[in-house]
Amino acid sequence: MNYYLGLDIGTTGAKAILINSRGEVIESATSEYPMFNPRPLWSEQNPEDWWKAAQESFNKVLKENKINKSDVKGIGLTGQMHGLVLLDKDGKVLRPCIMWNDQRTIKECEEISSLIGFDNLLRITGNPVLPGFTAPKILWVKKNEPHVYEKIEHILLPKDYIRFCLTGEFATDVSDASGTSLLNVSKRNWSDEILSTLDIPKTWMPEVYESVEATGKVTESAAEKTGLNYGTPIVAGGGDQAAGGVGTGTVKEGITSVVLGTSGVVFSHTDNLTIEPEGKLHAFCHSVPGAWHVMGVTLSAAGSFKWYKETFGETEKQIAAEKNKNVYDLLIKQAEEIPAGSEGLIFLPYLTGERTPYPDPDAKGTFTGITIRHSKKHFIRSVLEGVAYSLKDCLELSRGLGLEITEVRISGGGARSKLWRQILADVFNTEMVTLTTTEGAPYGAALLSAVGTGEYSSVEEVCEKTIKISESTKPAADSIRLYEEYYQIYKSLYPSLKESFKKISSVVKKQFR
Ligand code: XUL
Repeated sequence: MNYYLGLDIGTTGAKAILINSRGEVIESATSEYPMFNPRPLWSEQNPEDWWKAAQESFNKVLKENKINKSDVKGIGLTGQMHGLVLLDKDGKVLRPCIMWNDQRTIKECEEISSLIGFDNLLRITGNPVLPGFTAPKILWVKKNEPHVYEKIEHILLPKDYIRFCLTGEFATDVSDASGTSLLNVSKRNWSDEILSTLDIPKTWMPEVYESVEATGKVTESAAEKTGLNYGTPIVAGGGDQAAGGVGTGTVKEGITSVVLGTSGVVFSHTDNLTIEPEGKLHAFCHSVPGAWHVMGVTLSAAGSFKWYKETFGETEKQIAAEKNKNVYDLLIKQAEEIPAGSEGLIFLPYLTGERTPYPDPDAKGTFTGITIRHSKKHFIRSVLEGVAYSLKDCLELSRGLGLEITEVRISGGGARSKLWRQILADVFNTEMVTLTTTEGAPYGAALLSAVGTGEYSSVEEVCEKTIKISESTKPAADSIRLYEEYYQIYKSLYPSLKESFKKISSVVKKQFR
């Protein structure tokens, strides 16, 4: 039997997953690493920490079972998108990676927009430039850390740094490259126009491949460190969203997936490049060769729930530790006691700013409608509901593009909650289905390697054969109308608070400058 590995350089850890050629998960292992927030709105990680964690995860999955490592026929890489990894001429990391959720580059985004023009940017890259994207980070380093900038010889995305460690090659794939603001998404290659306008040498950029294409082989020294077989082929893989799209079988029109991870994503496959006229949805290359996807992102989805747990869940954490229970289950159980709509308590989940439909790093979270009746249980439920409203904003934009959404596939940590799935089905007024495989991006990456090394003939084929629906949640008739009313109120809140959010940011900035 042949085996395939997927590796995900996620926000919290490196996850390796081993599957067999039938797509069955044999083993998975995760090693965590820290994220640093040296200033408000900054997020950084050390690429060397990813590499250490990747080595541990590979070693663990290979050690935990008896398969012969030479039976691993391919490896696919995936990871957090948009991060800026800078290397010098010797391949040494020059500074910590500025991550996808870092919001320091508002000025640089404005600068790029005015240099290239909003419409031109939309036409070439499919998207406006956003603070989380890669290009404005390069300009930030140029301005703020000229001593680093002058040593740059290579620019890589997070998973591609691991590719470099594994193979010595500088390469990326079309889907991850789409999140840099430097790719021509229709041509599926770097945009000479943007690179030259921003004065970024093309020689710094890695070679761009389709996600299933091979980009190199595991070197002898990487084999020693990881336990992998010397010479194992590594395919280009994809950004975590596109690879996740493959991992949920969202590889043909009509299928939409919702990922309830730290960030929440509404992702639809498109056969043709489809750009939202105001750039409110991301239009990226898909990991399916020659296809694209549109995507809306709620920056703090399960991240909002985690924030709630960390901030207000001390009691539940203690009980969970004493009784060996899951702390999230304890919180969800309380939310179950509260009726749909949380008796008028509405949560805006913009805890780390927002992307869709409001690309606004100054956006903030709020609880609105608090009355003396509201208890902690209401607050928990309203967090779950607020995230669902925000994801509905994304879904509505996709529907507005004329995309037919016949099936919504839900995955990610938050999808394990039956209550949250029901809330989403009710808020969306759409049936939600879960899948037998729940591993998302690393699973998709492993499938891409099974295609790239010839086990399957196409991404569509491998998905068809390996991904099955497990459970379906239908909207509950009596909640649909109520949620629609609350959703309309939810939608009115951000526009009326926008200016206040901006003012709060400027006072906070002044205070902590
Ligand atoms: C996608 C995005 C996130 C990160 C981290 O645009 O920003 O999905 O890749 O998961």
